[in-house]
Amino acid sequence: MRLDRFLSNLPRFNRQDARQLLAGGRVRLDGQPCFDGRREVRIFSRVELDEEVLQAGKAARYFMLHKPIGVVSATEHPEHRTVLDLLDEPDTHDLHLAGRLDLNTSGLLLITNDGQWSRRVTAPQNKQPKVYLVDTEDPIDPACVEVFAAGLYFRFEDLVTRPAELEILAPRRARLTLHEGRYHQVKRMFGHFQNKIVDLHRVSMGALQLDERLCPGQYRALEADEIGSF
Ligand code: URA
Repeated sequence: MRLDRFLSNLPRFNRQDARQLLAGGRVRLDGQPCFDGRREVRIFSRVELDEEVLQAGKAARYFMLHKPIGVVSATEHPEHRTVLDLLDEPDTHDLHLAGRLDLNTSGLLLITNDGQWSRRVTAPQNKQPKVYLVDTEDPIDPACVEVFAAGLYFRFEDLVTRPAELEILAPRRARLTLHEGRYHQVKRMFGHFQNKIVDLHRVSMGALQLDERLCPGQYRALEADEIGSF
């Protein structure tokens, strides 16, 4: 909500009051005097009027988790443990996932209570690379490199996948960089070559690398620059 609307929504102020308070430099947004009523007030914003706190602002929370295999990327599930069960944090019901990994995929998963941020991370137009280490049942056909770079037709969605980079590291191991996140995308891409994935691990999203110090199941809070990288 805009700051001027936030102020005029308070029972004691109307729109003109709000304008005057702002013009008089009496309003602080996140600790800074604010004269611009168009500025956005979020649930995480601190809003003060003179010495009075109008809204304390909720703490925004951002975590990276090393998702283990066998834990479901959801906030609740009738059968499986969810990734939220791995967090020793208060109010986990407030948190949601910025992207998903399949049950049998491991690696970098982002968790937050900031919906604007997670929308940015997962927006289809966000072409930031997601890097996966892939182990396959059969040797990887070198033709995959060109086919993945050209894009593969996905009949269900009726689209061609964005160019993806495949680097073959060993006969059955590759690094795959995607610039989107379609349902079971990596499995379907290798499925096109009748090659089954036996292990799939996400190592990075955008500039953010999975912290190597985190064992499967462990997590840590993101640093400010990591949050800002999306
Ligand atoms: N592609 C898949 O097939 N599975 C994942 O978990 C992520 C990408």
